[in-house]
Amino acid sequence: MEHSRFYYYVSAILFISGLFFPDMVGSIGINYGQIANNLPTPDNVIPLVKSIGATKVKLYDADPRVLKAFANTGVEFIVGLGNEYLSKMRDPDKAQVWVKANVQAYLPATKITCITIGNEILSFNDSSLTDNLLPAMQGIHTALVNLGLDKQVSVTTAHSLSVLEVSYPPSAGSFRKDLVGCITPILNFHAKTNSPFLINAYPFFAFKSNPKQVSLDFVLFQPNQGVVDPKSNFHYDNMLFAQIDAVYSALASLGYSKLPVHISETGWPSKRG
Ligand SMILES: *[C@@H]1O[C@H](CO)[C@@H](O)[C@H](O)[C@H]1NC(C)=O
Repeated sequence: MEHSRFYYYVSAILFISGLFFPDMVGSIGINYGQIANNLPTPDNVIPLVKSIGATKVKLYDADPRVLKAFANTGVEFIVGLGNEYLSKMRDPDKAQVWVKANVQAYLPATKITCITIGNEILSFNDSSLTDNLLPAMQGIHTALVNLGLDKQVSVTTAHSLSVLEVSYPPSAGSFRKDLVGCITPILNFHAKTNSPFLINAYPFFAFKSNPKQVSLDFVLFQPNQGVVDPKSNFHYDNMLFAQIDAVYSALASLGYSKLPVHISETGWPSKRG
């Protein structure tokens, strides 16, 4: 959801691998948004990324300046295919040209491991965008297969939490009914190609839209009573984990309980806009 508002967010990608928080985050990544003024040059971003211990970076595009600057740094990259290019990627020749120019050209010096096809596509309720999503994912994946890169580069897309109809309690998590028809084949694509389900999850927005009901401590990982899911009996002491479990429940309800879920964006405001 990159817009200028994003300037004020510390945005992170968390790669989750366990149950409790210190073990839970296998590694930390950051979203490198570029819709802002006064941005440091890519060369100057490298020490910033390293200083916070991030080993992964997600771009919203495949900016050549950034991908060149990070060559031989060991930092892993998720690159993005912009929403505006989706319809073209149905065409296998165009998909191959895109992968060659934006991914293959930087490998192996820059460690690109994943491509996100569009960002929060299903939340626009735009049927032409929605209809192009899976064909574009398939087109890019086929190009990677043809170039012998599919084992090192996976293909996915990042969803907004608004793809869920129910997110509380977490055990009742389910997808919007009108999206089930298009999400199910996408989940099948993930299962077949071994790629993760990406979710942009913002407890902050839940707080902002409902500040009287939602406790700030629950949103900000501060000590609080937490909530108990009446069905699973799981106790949640922060909203982020509750949101992610709602996603797992939604996936399970469609028969995809084994798909890995990665948090592709989260964050809190760091400054008043
Ligand atoms: C998309 O449709 C859903 C379900 O009808 C609705 O809740 C949501 O507000 C819509 N979003 C936009 C951006 O129009």
